[in-house]
Amino acid sequence: MQTYLQFLASVLVFLFVPVLSQLDQFMYAGFKDVGHNNLTLDGTAVIEKNGIIRLTNDTNRIMGHAFYSLPFQLKNSTTGKAFSFSSSFALAVVSEFPKFGGHGMAFTIAPSKHLKGLPIQYLGLLNSSSVGNFSNHLFAVEFDTAKDIDFGDINDNHVGIDINTLKSNVSVTAGYYINDSTKQDINIKSGKPILVWVDYDSSVNLVSVTLSLTSIKPKKPILSLNMDLSPIFLDTMYVGFSASTGMLASSHYLLGWSFKINGPASRLDLSSLPQPPQPKKKHSSLILLITGISLTALVIALCFVAFGKASTSSDVFAFGALLLEVACGRRPIEPNALQEELVLVEWVWEKYKQGRLLEVVDPKLNGCFDECEVIMVLKLGMICSNDVPTIRPCMRQVVRILDGEVELPNELRKPGIIDSQEGFDEFLHSFGTSNSFDKTSSSSYLANKDVNTNTSSISFANSP
Ligand SMILES: *[C@@H]1O[C@H](CO)[C@@H](O)[C@H](O)[C@H]1NC(C)=O
Ligand SMILES: *[C@@H]1O[C@H](CO)[C@@H](O)[C@H](O)[C@H]1NC(C)=O
Ligand SMILES: *[C@@H]1O[C@H](CO)[C@@H](O)[C@H](O)[C@H]1NC(C)=O
Ligand SMILES: *[C@@H]1O[C@H](CO)[C@@H](O)[C@H](O)[C@H]1NC(C)=O
Ligand SMILES: *[C@@H]1O[C@H](CO)[C@@H](O)[C@H](O)[C@H]1NC(C)=O
Ligand SMILES: *[C@@H]1O[C@H](CO)[C@@H](O)[C@H](O)[C@H]1NC(C)=O
Ligand SMILES: *[C@@H]1O[C@H](CO)[C@@H](O)[C@H](O)[C@H]1NC(C)=O
Repeated sequence: MQTYLQFLASVLVFLFVPVLSQLDQFMYAGFKDVGHNNLTLDGTAVIEKNGIIRLTNDTNRIMGHAFYSLPFQLKNSTTGKAFSFSSSFALAVVSEFPKFGGHGMAFTIAPSKHLKGLPIQYLGLLNSSSVGNFSNHLFAVEFDTAKDIDFGDINDNHVGIDINTLKSNVSVTAGYYINDSTKQDINIKSGKPILVWVDYDSSVNLVSVTLSLTSIKPKKPILSLNMDLSPIFLDTMYVGFSASTGMLASSHYLLGWSFKINGPASRLDLSSLPQPPQPKKKHSSLILLITGISLTALVIALCFVAFGKASTSSDVFAFGALLLEVACGRRPIEPNALQEELVLVEWVWEKYKQGRLLEVVDPKLNGCFDECEVIMVLKLGMICSNDVPTIRPCMRQVVRILDGEVELPNELRKPGIIDSQEGFDEFLHSFGTSNSFDKTSSSSYLANKDVNTNTSSISFANSP
């Protein structure tokens, strides 16, 4: 009897193993009660009570991964040809600030379910030494809400197909086609569930990505790439998701997910999936400090936008002028001011030399500000406004200073003088066109060359 049972057990094990290796599909309409057998989570990823996966919350510089626990056979081991596959998933990104994304998330196929990635622009997928290496065998479809210059991002709301690096082979503004020719944009960080299909047809070597705000799959994909994935894939690979946050943060959610080899992934119905929490409504216009936003938070937000824009030292100069303007509540050249206050940067410098820097702070703040913060912003403004371009820091250094990673120099050099509005206006204009700031507010802010009684208010528009 004993031997018979042992025999039976070994037969069962024998039968069970091939069954596991033949696994070719799954479907999760929410992740309630899903255990470690099925999904492997790491970093900040958790399954919430309602069955939604939260890969990151709105903490800065974190990352989270969620992978299907078992690997998939993705290649015919005889011919070495990659199989077709199809995946469908619903994601939602709830951002800390409605206008600024906190990095992004990616659907990924990788050799390991424990990626040794970095947060911020690496999206938790790769690190600075592995990025671009062919030995990564990494395929990813990124949903990126920050514009990173190093990786050639087209904007701060795009979908891209990435192979072994974060520099997308192809990318496009997030959206969907309502017919063959008309495209509708989707704001990834709106907090609304977005249904996605990633399909690979190995007979024509075509990857296609399709997005929708409903459960109906649009006919025309938003993004495709003609590439044979056979050299990218290993025989067996893991499929999953990765997300990260940066200086600004978003909560990245996964509501449901299906996957299938050599056939269409099971259909997901958005209405039957768990829902992400609603984004917090922000006031349409936040008056600096008076409504409680910290100056550092605002400057980091400005800096974050500038970081994606400011590539030249004249942009940095303009950014410095903007900092001074925000902290002092006045234009760089103030037509109605006293003679000695005419040019803002000179006036701030004079006060600094006299040890009376706090006197320049916007009087409308009624002393309601954090002295250390204001001093840091003013000093940074002066450093960026140096008239010698090579002495100006680059935005990366500015970020490090704001981050506390690098200290401000004790002794400041005399800053330069704004002799032209040109660079400054161009710089602010680039905010407007990027849609990073509310268009109307930044353009009226710009157009107003007179004394603006409300210069220290920056508008963060409501999320749609
Ligand atoms: C979850 O894992 C269990 C045990 O390995 C397996 O029986 C089940 O089919 C899996 N469910 C899904 C949806 O993959
Ligand atoms: C975010 O997640 C991290 C890591 O899981 C945790 O330490 C932190 O408390 C969370 N923050 C919030 C605001 O939930
Ligand atoms: C792999 O390719 C060979 C040759 O074309 C074929 O006979 C075999 O069925 C394929 N295997 C799978 C698992 O598709
Ligand atoms: C970077 O990624 C590679 C490939 O996954 C890994 O071998 C290496 O240990 C990682 N480096 C760090 C510092 O995490
Ligand atoms: C790519 O990664 C492999 C394996 O980790 C490593 O041996 C090689 O040096 C890397 N190549 C480059 C250019 O970093
Ligand atoms: C596209 O992907 C391939 C991987 O095969 C890579 O070698 C190539 O550099 C990528 N192209 C771009 C423009 O990133
Ligand atoms: C696509 O839809 C737009 C908007 O409804 C319409 O104006 C256009 O004529 C349509 N084009 C085609 C080719 O159907």
